Amino acid sequence: MATINDNYLKLKAGYLFPEIARRVNTFTQSNPNAPIIKLGIGDVTEPLPEACRTAMMKAVEDMGDRSTFKGYGPEQGYNWLKEKIAAQDFQARGCDVDPSEIFISDGSKCDNGNILDIFGKNNKIAVTDPVYPVYVDTNVMAGHTGEGKDDGKYEGLVYIPITADNNFTATIPTQKVDLIYLCFPNNPTGAVATKEHLQAWVDYAKANGSIIFFDAAYEAFITDPSIPHSIYEIPGARDCAIEFRSFSKNAGFTGTRCALTVVPKTLTAKAADGSDVELWKLWNRRQSTKFNGVSYIVQRGAEAVYSEAGKAQIKALVSFYLENAKIIREKLTAAGLQVYGGVNAPYVWVKTPNGLSSWDFFDKLLQTCNVVGTPGSGFGAAGEGYFRISGFNSRENVEEAMKRITEKFKV
Ligand code: MLT
Repeated sequence: MATINDNYLKLKAGYLFPEIARRVNTFTQSNPNAPIIKLGIGDVTEPLPEACRTAMMKAVEDMGDRSTFKGYGPEQGYNWLKEKIAAQDFQARGCDVDPSEIFISDGSKCDNGNILDIFGKNNKIAVTDPVYPVYVDTNVMAGHTGEGKDDGKYEGLVYIPITADNNFTATIPTQKVDLIYLCFPNNPTGAVATKEHLQAWVDYAKANGSIIFFDAAYEAFITDPSIPHSIYEIPGARDCAIEFRSFSKNAGFTGTRCALTVVPKTLTAKAADGSDVELWKLWNRRQSTKFNGVSYIVQRGAEAVYSEAGKAQIKALVSFYLENAKIIREKLTAAGLQVYGGVNAPYVWVKTPNGLSSWDFFDKLLQTCNVVGTPGSGFGAAGEGYFRISGFNSRENVEEAMKRITEKFKV
């Protein structure tokens, strides 16, 4: 008799965003004409940059000619893309990252989950609370946790609160942990980490033999020049950190799919016999076995992000979403709501009014304003009483949503 991976049975309800979609669908079935505005999932709405589209169309032409046709590409990504990423995203900021340490993939969400393939079963794992749910759920699936508890936490994980009480910083744990997930600019709170804060994490990781998984999917939204874009701007990070990046949010590739993971060749972890093993070799082996690379056409589109035209278009795109976030912050603040984030990140983190729970506020907003956001409790127990509003939408929709919310929820 075939058996299942019982760890899946430990997972709480549905994954957050499908659960939101389910509630919205139920609502629209009874209210088919409701003019719903979605500021929930961080999905982009504006067209792909022209430079990327042109590059992809040219790549399609390449595929139509035997002399330029491409079959399987390198599982790790084409060098012409990795060289540009290494030079412009990393070396230009003083980060010692070689193109061979970059692995192109079809998404950061996938890489964040897949990376667990190369780590042992008995690592002590730390996540922030609130947190991007993928980090937690993939560990549950991999059997790295105990049962889920009533407060939404899982036994065996170490939760590090990032809340208004600690100014949204991830306090260094007093206990020893082996794997640490950090996401800055932060999803969902929109908070950022200073150089000093990341240095403290790198120092902790080096002292404890821990590995940091640094999710920098939102680095393009950093407006404060003192805030690091990469963990490799921090001395020592090459010995303790893996970084995840994405073209989803800066270049609007959520539907096009392209991302990258950096695994420095200097990074090691222990084998069962106590020897040090290079993580780069394991990740390379994993990717070569389970992945056949991102399509040539998409990688050409990603390459165009680094052209002069591409850089200007991406800057404009990011500024557009940041302006949306600013409008959200300003309108909600003027209505008397307490808001955080939205300055170096596309997400605004809002304290729910009148002591409403996150899901109650979600339902109220949906029913009375026809606006969809994301309940903070969906990101973890410490997100209860908060609500995330995304700046990813058209200006018209953001302004209309703010008008509706501020009319109903003036406090
Ligand atoms: C979010 O809304 O948190 C993001 O869109 C999730 C993701 O990028 O997978």
